[in-house]
Amino acid sequence: MTALKPFLSDNAAAVHPKLWEAMRAADQPDHPYDGDRLSAELDARFTALFGRECAALWVATGTAANCLALGTLVQPHGGVVCHREAHIEVDEGGAPGFFLHGAKLMLCGQEHGGEGAKLTPEGIAALIDPVRNDVHQVQPHAIAITQASEYGRTYTPAELAALGAFAKERRLCLHMDGARFANAAAFLGGSAAEAARAASGPVHSLAFGFIKNGGMGAEAVVLFDPERAMEVRYRRKRAGHLQCKGRYLAAQILAMLEDDLWLANAAHANAAAREVAAGCADRLLHPVEANELFVRLTPGEREALRAQDFAFYDWGADSARFVTAWNTRPEDAQALGRAIAAL
Ligand SMILES: Cc1ncc(COP(=O)(O)O)c(C=O)c1O
Repeated sequence: MTALKPFLSDNAAAVHPKLWEAMRAADQPDHPYDGDRLSAELDARFTALFGRECAALWVATGTAANCLALGTLVQPHGGVVCHREAHIEVDEGGAPGFFLHGAKLMLCGQEHGGEGAKLTPEGIAALIDPVRNDVHQVQPHAIAITQASEYGRTYTPAELAALGAFAKERRLCLHMDGARFANAAAFLGGSAAEAARAASGPVHSLAFGFIKNGGMGAEAVVLFDPERAMEVRYRRKRAGHLQCKGRYLAAQILAMLEDDLWLANAAHANAAAREVAAGCADRLLHPVEANELFVRLTPGEREALRAQDFAFYDWGADSARFVTAWNTRPEDAQALGRAIAAL
């Protein structure tokens, strides 16, 4: 049997060898929970990267990172404005309702990725302006955006600045689901610090993803108002997310930050996505900016690709999603581009 050419999900990509090394090096006596010397380094490392003071905590899933951060921004009687196809709405099994104690998700934008699942100040205003300012209606407390978006689109620094200004004017907090933050940062370019700042803009909190990008089981909750960190610590414990061997999670994150591995891995994944895109530009449903491709393909065409051992998910009746990763082999990406072109 030929080996599968994996384009199913970056969630399934292998763990980077440097992270195995880092976890092996962490495999020695230290304090439990987040009292170890590696967890203690996180605040300073992220502060250096973003060039503004922040606190950073590890968690094991992106869902927990999003919901623990949002929990500090939104009260139970408030709402979080997000795109109707945002991961927090469609792929977190109701976790926001659970972690935010019933706070409402207020859904914005069109279905089927109309605008690549990106939010704009105008779109948000159209949703929240009609909300009456009285106790009978849920008031928005925060906006959640996804960088890169659920359709692989990135927010530019100008778009982030506009959203930040809008949020400030409306006294809303801004959270970023950065499950693919690295891919967005790599697309925007520059040094690691420049890319991280450009991709994050003026957000209050960021769920900085590592798992899709060569990590095993560690994401960072980054809080640009470090005063909120203690609240997240209590919430993390109460939610059953305080791991007693936290040093192995911290080790993964620190190894990703070391020598900007996070950015190099994402740049590799993005380059592989561009290789595929070169073969199917006329079929793309969204511009390819990060590491996901949404491609118009009939059921028969998908079958033909699967017969050639390409693994991917169907995306609705007439399209498919392909995801590249830090370890996608260039020859597999080129082969996929050629196979689609030949259909
Ligand atoms: C946009 C987005 N946000 C968050 C997540 C995190 O999900 P999980 O809780 O499975 O780690 C994912 C993973 O698929 C994602 O694609």
